[in-house]
Amino acid sequence: MSQITKIALSSPLVHLRPTEVADLPFVMDAEQHSDNAPYVNQWTIEQHKDAIASTNDGHFIAQTNNASGTARIGYLILTGLTDPHQVVLLRRIVVTAKGQGYGRQILQWAKQFTFEHLGYHRLWLDVIVSNQRAQALYLSEGFVIEGTLREAYKNEQSFEDMLILSLLRPEYLRTQRS
Ligand SMILES: CC(C)(COP(=O)(O)OP(=O)(O)OC[C@H]1O[C@@H](n2cnc3c(N)ncnc32)[C@H](O)[C@@H]1OP(=O)(O)O)[C@@H](O)C(=O)NCCC(=O)NCCS
Repeated sequence: MSQITKIALSSPLVHLRPTEVADLPFVMDAEQHSDNAPYVNQWTIEQHKDAIASTNDGHFIAQTNNASGTARIGYLILTGLTDPHQVVLLRRIVVTAKGQGYGRQILQWAKQFTFEHLGYHRLWLDVIVSNQRAQALYLSEGFVIEGTLREAYKNEQSFEDMLILSLLRPEYLRTQRS
């Protein structure tokens, strides 16, 4: 991911930068926190290190910048940066300071990164049906539900359906013009 430098966000609320190994305790804490663990896959620190080192993955820390300094408020993992089909998977998004608009800003940054910086064609993700908060965010950002993976996610009690959502470059560009 070394070629990725700063990509300007349309809003100054959140700044995204490549994750460093020194950030991984923050990432692991966020991933394993009981507010997030039910909704995101759990990786080992080695898996995160592999993603940081991979040219096909983008592993980013989201942080706020203000007068009192910077504070990490989440992370984002994208996969497919070298995909010949120009398809990026939004593999993981976690916000630790929820309900303050940061998740929307990070998602908008991911869209901008995929369609403007990379110039790619498709951004997609999956989400379990019980994750209403994330679904509301994705739908309000223009993502389209493509279908259901039946009982594809094992939670503590049972198996849960997952939705596949995507956004295509022409759809993104239309929203930028309006
Ligand atoms: C999903 C997540 C990334 C959203 O980030 P966030 O910073 O909390 O979200 P925002 O404050 O930007 O809110 C975005 C939208 O989410 C929805 N939302 C926020 N809080 C909500 C709640 N308590 N219930 C339902 N929807 C909610 C709203 O549509 C909101 O938009 P609005 O405020 O304009 O109405 C974050 O909550 C998170 O990390 N959740 C746990 C991990 C996770 O679920 N990751 C996604 C896996 S697919």
